[in-house]
Amino acid sequence: MAVQTEIGIIGGSGFYRLNAQDPPGKASAFLEIETPFAKDKVILCRESMSGKDVFFLPRHGEQHRLPPHKINYRANLWALKLAGVKTLFAVNAVGGIHAKLQPGSVVIPDQIIDYTWGRQHSFFDDLNSLYDHCDFTYPYSQHLRELLLAAAATLKLAVTENACFACTQGPRLETAAEIQRLKRDGNDIVGMTGMPEAALARELGIDYACIALVVNPAAGLSEAEISLAEIKKVLSTGLDDVRLLIAECLLKM
Ligand code: HPA
Repeated sequence: MAVQTEIGIIGGSGFYRLNAQDPPGKASAFLEIETPFAKDKVILCRESMSGKDVFFLPRHGEQHRLPPHKINYRANLWALKLAGVKTLFAVNAVGGIHAKLQPGSVVIPDQIIDYTWGRQHSFFDDLNSLYDHCDFTYPYSQHLRELLLAAAATLKLAVTENACFACTQGPRLETAAEIQRLKRDGNDIVGMTGMPEAALARELGIDYACIALVVNPAAGLSEAEISLAEIKKVLSTGLDDVRLLIAECLLKM
């Protein structure tokens, strides 16, 4: 295992390179890492932001090749760990359930409920020891959340804290009734890639926080059908805020 402490950033939908001005596929270097969980190596991009070197990994692949249920979360997290990552920021595009979370809102969730199924969700497959049961009461690093909130305050960027993330299986969007159920469960946002990523990071002892960008009102909460064109429009401006937030956060680290 590497000994140095590294920062990692996982990009979600629409976030395929760390710096928006870089052409696709560009990075100062690539690190190809073999893991026990995939035949293909995981490719980490060496990037720089706010004067800091970080490892960047677009979880859907460069061309959004991988749908949420096909992402090899274990290989990704294992590779980041091998690269020395101890601090990890994850960006997720989500639907808004809470009425105040309209498209363009940035959310730093503090809770998550996992509705996914059939995903490889643990590194503890064979050992069956007491250590398999890691504490997950608070799924996100409070320290990293506070850094993000402080960065947002410096930027005067409105962000929502204390929100619950419903992670659904996808790749289809939810029914209106499913969203009502998620709302009754206490969820504020809904996305497809929050889990098992957060739990795997915890199993590996990596500090992990999520930056969620609301890209549509969740199913049944607006008159209009959820459209990819609308989502892309929100991503194109909303991800500027997310990048600014990450850049400011890195300055504070
Ligand atoms: N539901 C689930 N995942 C999503 C959504 C949504 O409405 N929007 C973006 N990712």
